[in-house]
Amino acid sequence: MPFPAAFIDELISRNPIEEVVGQYVQLKRSGSNYFGLCPFHGEKTASFSVAPNKQMYYCFGCHKGGGVIDFIKEIEGLSYPDAVRFLAKRANLEVPEDERYQSQYKEQERLWRLCKDAARFYHEMLKSDAGKHAREYLIRRGLDWATVVKFGLGFAPDDFHALIPAMEQKGYTREELVAANLAAVSQKNAKNVYDRFRNRIMFPQIDLRNNVIGFAGRALDKEARAKYINPTETLIFSKRKFLYAMNLAKKTKRPYIILCEGPMDAIACHQYGFDCAVASQGTALTEDQVNIISKYTEQVLMTYDNDAAGQNATQRAIQMFGRAGVKVKILKLHDAKDADEFLHKFGADPFEVLIQGSENQADYRLLSLQSQFDLTKDDQRVEFTVRAAELISSFPSAAEREIYADRAAKAAGISQEAMLLEAGKAYKKRINREKRQQERRDLSPVTANLPTERSLRGEYGNPRSAAAEEQVIGFVLLEPGLMDLAEDLNGAAFSVSFLGRAYDALLRLHREGLRVSLAALQDFTPEESSRLSAISQRCDKLSGDQAFLDCVNVILSEKAKKDAANSDADLLALSQALQKNKGYS
Ligand code: UTP
Ligand code: MN
Repeated sequence: MPFPAAFIDELISRNPIEEVVGQYVQLKRSGSNYFGLCPFHGEKTASFSVAPNKQMYYCFGCHKGGGVIDFIKEIEGLSYPDAVRFLAKRANLEVPEDERYQSQYKEQERLWRLCKDAARFYHEMLKSDAGKHAREYLIRRGLDWATVVKFGLGFAPDDFHALIPAMEQKGYTREELVAANLAAVSQKNAKNVYDRFRNRIMFPQIDLRNNVIGFAGRALDKEARAKYINPTETLIFSKRKFLYAMNLAKKTKRPYIILCEGPMDAIACHQYGFDCAVASQGTALTEDQVNIISKYTEQVLMTYDNDAAGQNATQRAIQMFGRAGVKVKILKLHDAKDADEFLHKFGADPFEVLIQGSENQADYRLLSLQSQFDLTKDDQRVEFTVRAAELISSFPSAAEREIYADRAAKAAGISQEAMLLEAGKAYKKRINREKRQQERRDLSPVTANLPTERSLRGEYGNPRSAAAEEQVIGFVLLEPGLMDLAEDLNGAAFSVSFLGRAYDALLRLHREGLRVSLAALQDFTPEESSRLSAISQRCDKLSGDQAFLDCVNVILSEKAKKDAANSDADLLALSQALQKNKGYS
């Protein structure tokens, strides 16, 4: 009997794979992943990898892989349910009743609907007479009405009882309003429930699946106690995992994400054509946010405020992005305190110049690399030297190479000459590697991608469809929202049956509002899990909705071809049978 998906979801998040695996295997960090010696086959070089952002492990040597439950199954030799109990115990979790999780999900759905209705209400208020001064404020701050609509901005009236009665009329309860953090209970009189947001510009917080999950409110009144009231934790909102405007920025064609501090900055960027801007909204950047960004881009441009707090936050963020393998450039704004002010004052072109001109940020890149190593340890110093040499060898000018070789050498405690020598070696290695890769690409037949697991090979009879199916699985693991774009697709259309089963299972998780990850899949054989991990391992970057839809079309058209061929074959068989019966043949 399968466990409730919500429970598995929690079980996985309370058992971070790198911690669990780390109890059996000595892991070393490298970029966003960890590596170690594979516990499932004897080896001397580390080809066993753990990817915390994907919550999975994969061995490049023996091709075993999966989520944390698979790992425990395999290493402890347990059945699936026992591996689940094992991890539940480890995390101090009780294996729960089904109903509890189902009712929690229903509650979530109601809160999503409530927040959407509240966003509509606030937006109507902004358009109404009561919202006149709020509209004027937004105009004064340079926002177009189209921008206001795009972000669904609204206005909370200066009234303790505006939203509550409007939502009650729609059938929501006060408890639900409080649970969504839209209303608060008076401390003096528990019967007195009042609107939490008053006389504020309202910024709906929209997640990657386009659900409204909370609100931030900016004061219009200078005397207000807080300039911004940010959304707080609720059943549907987790500030750790949220980035303002990511729902829009994820569609950008630009090869980078602009990270701002506040919603007004992100909005200004979008209005001026920088549709790749997101905001962290006054909270310190979290690992989860960094992981989200790392799924969409390899390059972040940071425009935190020019004040000391902003600069400290920037330093911290550089190190976090460095660990996740994301490059960081800093946009140094002159004569403006933030992106919003800069854009309204100078316009889009100077901002673009700033982006293009933000040189390669060699110092930041070296610093972020350095932060990944403990340079008091010899082996880490060696490792750092190798990686720094790789970085330095990629700098185009000799002057730059000398300067940074010197800096890196000092950090590693070696001579500049030695560092430059390493950089020279790294350069030759890279050139050779690139040449080899190109040759391999030129020569490799489609079949090179067949699974190594013998038991699965039989399933890959249609390599064209299978390749598209694997790509689809890879994409939706990175961005589950893509599944909403392909309503016609379900597992039955897949030529490889376990990939079809996986797609259906992921779709179910997505529809139930749970985290879509391989680790949550139940009922797959170890070979299948391993193959799924390999797929996820290979698919590291999203390449836009269209690439996804192209794959979906391949699957559907291959399926249509097969159906047509089958029905032809059926007809043929039928007519032969008929002829036989009539004694014609
Ligand atoms: P700022 O004070 O620099 O505000 O705070 P801002 O972004 O320029 O806002 P506008 O342009 O005056 O509207 C930077 C960010 O810090 C958070 C907000 O997310 C804000 O955008 N903040 C600020 C809070 O969370 N609470 C506050 O009281 C103030
Ligand atoms: Mn500002």
